[in-house]
Amino acid sequence: MAQTTTITLTGAGGQIGYAALFRIAAGDMLGPDRLIALRLLEIPQGMRGAEGAAMELLDCAFPLLESVEISDDPNVAFDGANIALLIGSRPRTAGMERGDLLAANGAIFGPQGRAIGEHAADDVRVAVVGNPANTNALIAQQHAAGVPAERFSALTRLDHNRAVGLLAAEAGASVRAVDGITIWGNHSATQYPDLSHATIDGRPALETVDAAWARGPYIERVAKRGAEIIEVRGGSSVASAANAAIEHVRDWVLGTGDRRTSAAVVSRGEYGVPEGLISSFPVRSDGDGWRVVEGLGVDDFSRQRIDASVAELVAERDAVRELGLIP
Ligand code: NAD
Ligand code: LMR
Repeated sequence: MAQTTTITLTGAGGQIGYAALFRIAAGDMLGPDRLIALRLLEIPQGMRGAEGAAMELLDCAFPLLESVEISDDPNVAFDGANIALLIGSRPRTAGMERGDLLAANGAIFGPQGRAIGEHAADDVRVAVVGNPANTNALIAQQHAAGVPAERFSALTRLDHNRAVGLLAAEAGASVRAVDGITIWGNHSATQYPDLSHATIDGRPALETVDAAWARGPYIERVAKRGAEIIEVRGGSSVASAANAAIEHVRDWVLGTGDRRTSAAVVSRGEYGVPEGLISSFPVRSDGDGWRVVEGLGVDDFSRQRIDASVAELVAERDAVRELGLIP
C-alpha cells in the first residue's frame, strides 16, 4: 500500500493555489507512488474559490488523490501536515507602507507557524510562497515551537528558473545545458542572480555570454522579472510561481542528485550570512533536507551584491522584531 502524504495549501482559493492544486494531485510534486491528502486553508472570503477548486479536483478523478478538506481554521488545516505550502498572504495595496505590509503578514504567518508547531506531523516541511516570502517564513518559523528551523524554507526557485531561462535564451542554448546558477539573498529586487559558477554545456557561462551583460542588464532583468510580468500580463506571475513551488518541494523531498538549485533556507552562517536569517543559497537536497553548497568562490562583485540583499533581509527582520512579531 502506497503511503499517504498530507499536504496543506494556504490561499487555495487564489490564483497560484488554483494553478498548483491540479498538478499536485496529478503527482507532479511527489511522483506517481505517493497518495495525497489535500487540506486547503482559506480565509472566509476565499472559501468559495477553494470549494470550487475542490469540486473540480473531484471531477478530475485523480487516482492519487485520497481526500480534499477545506477549512478556515489553521489548527484544523495543518493537522497532520507533512508538507505545508504557504501561498496565501496579504498583498500590498495602495497607500500601504512596508511596515503595514509586514505587520499584516505577521498576523497571518505567526498564527500559522504556531498551528504548524502544534498540529503538523513530526516530519513537516514548510515552503513559503506568499510575499514577502523570506520574512514571512522567518515569522512562521519563529512561532513553530518544536519544529526544527531547517524545515522552513521560502521560494526563490522562480527566480532561479527565470535566471536559467534568460541565460539559455541569451546564449542560444537549451535550458538543459545550464547548470550552477545561484540566486542569493531575498526574493525581491535586491536578489543576486550569480553566474560566476554557471556553466553551459559544461563550459563557464561567462565565456559564452558577455560578462558586462551578466553583471548588469541580466541581474536587473531577473531581479525585476516579477514586475515585468505584472506590467505585461496585468497581474503577477501565477503558473510559473506554481511550477516553481512544485519543483521546490519535489527537489526537497525526492532529492536533486548532483544538480544545484536555489532555495531560501535558514542560514547557519554560511557565506557570512547572519545565522537565523532565511536567505537564498546554492543548495542540493539528498531527500532528507536542503544542504547549502559550501566552498564556492565569492569575488568582490558577488560579495557586494550578496551583502546588499542580506542587508535588506536584516532590515526586514529588525522591522518585524520591532513590531513584536518575532522575539
Ligand atoms: P491571490 O490573491 O490570487 O490569492 C491569495 C489567496 O490567499 C486568496 O484567495 C486569499 O483569500 C488567500 N489568503 C489570504 N490570507 C490568507 C490566510 N491568512 N490564510 C489562508 N489564505 C489566505 O494571490 P496569488 O496570485 O495566488 O499570490 C499569492 C502570493 O504569492 C502573493 O503574496 C504573491 O505576491 C506571492 N508570489 C510569490 C512568488 C514567489 O516567487 N515567492 C511568486 C509569485 C507570487
Ligand atoms: C514574482 O516574483 O513574480 C512575485 O513575487 C510577484 C512580484 O511582486 O514580484
